Amino acid sequence: MPTRRSLLGLFALSGTAGAFATPSFAGLLRASFVDDQSAPLRAIAAQRGIVYGSAVGSYELRDPEFAASLAREAGILVAEYEMKRGVIEEVRGRYDFSGIDTLMAFAQAHGMAFRAHTLVWHHRNPGWLDAAVLAERDPALQTGYIDAVMRHCKGRIKSWDVVNEAISPEDGRSDNLRNTLWLQAFGPGYIDAAFHAARAADPTAQLVYNDWGCENSGDKHDRFRAATLDFLERALARGVPIDGLGLQGHLQAFGPPIDQKKLRDFLSKVQQMGLKILITEHDVDDSGGPSDIATRDQAVANASRRFLEVVLDNSATEAVLTWGLSDRFLKPSGWRETLTGYSPRALPLDADMQRTPMWHAMARVLATG
Ligand code: XIL
Repeated sequence: MPTRRSLLGLFALSGTAGAFATPSFAGLLRASFVDDQSAPLRAIAAQRGIVYGSAVGSYELRDPEFAASLAREAGILVAEYEMKRGVIEEVRGRYDFSGIDTLMAFAQAHGMAFRAHTLVWHHRNPGWLDAAVLAERDPALQTGYIDAVMRHCKGRIKSWDVVNEAISPEDGRSDNLRNTLWLQAFGPGYIDAAFHAARAADPTAQLVYNDWGCENSGDKHDRFRAATLDFLERALARGVPIDGLGLQGHLQAFGPPIDQKKLRDFLSKVQQMGLKILITEHDVDDSGGPSDIATRDQAVANASRRFLEVVLDNSATEAVLTWGLSDRFLKPSGWRETLTGYSPRALPLDADMQRTPMWHAMARVLATG
């Protein structure tokens, strides 16, 4: 006879809790998850219609303790680096999908969804690409890649970061676009072309514009939020098939706290455009503060909680992914950290696969809003 917990977990894991939740049942679900810390994040998230997951590299799956934790906690995966063009098309015209095929097989074996990151970016491209794009200025160098990768993954990936980090008000353009090789070669229309090519390659896929800079507080991020809204409004008005906005969610535990009101207002405007909202790369950098672990962990948890409270309060939000699940694979960010032996604590599980205060903060916000 299944227990209440196993039943709740079953519904939540299958992501059908929402379909089954009546007011009393929903209350039962939430009460159970708030006080039942054994429930994994994927189950807690699913009971309110959110999918939670993590970025991962196939090398991490060779660590059995990590693989077991990932299978327990994550309901969706994204490739941390193996879907960068520099990995997939290191040699022009020769595609290596082995890394993402390994990751997609793991996701399928554990009932997880999979999202793709990223088709068009200005970093982590193969060494031959920049010169070829700028010399040949052949749009097929962008759209042909999009078509090839999406056709390979068709039926296995439902959400794609089509264009990543194309906005940079600091570059001084009136359209606030980043002055990348793509812009230099093809003009601002490269973004439209990328999304139209993606829609043609897989009409059923969710197409996402992904960026960072809208989450944090300060004048620079106020400008970034305004530029992002302007970009999205203009693109949608041109008929560019953008279905969602991806906010990377890289936060600073000891930086200026996010302005919850400004973030809430920004997300409301995004929702009013009819876009879905996804948190695609959430982590909290805990460098630059006191050295004791408890203080760092609490600051990380608070930053994540304050961010997710706002994000999850918007009904357009449908996914939260952390940029890794465990600190085990994180490395110090700079020479000072390396010298001091600092080891980052930025994710829901620590290096020993133990749930951190960030895990508990995420669990509480996911369970209770
Ligand atoms: C980084 C990954 O963490 C690295 O492993 C990879 O080599 C390069 O990309 N913004 C992004 C992510 O959109 O793709 C970046 O991830 C981090 C910043």
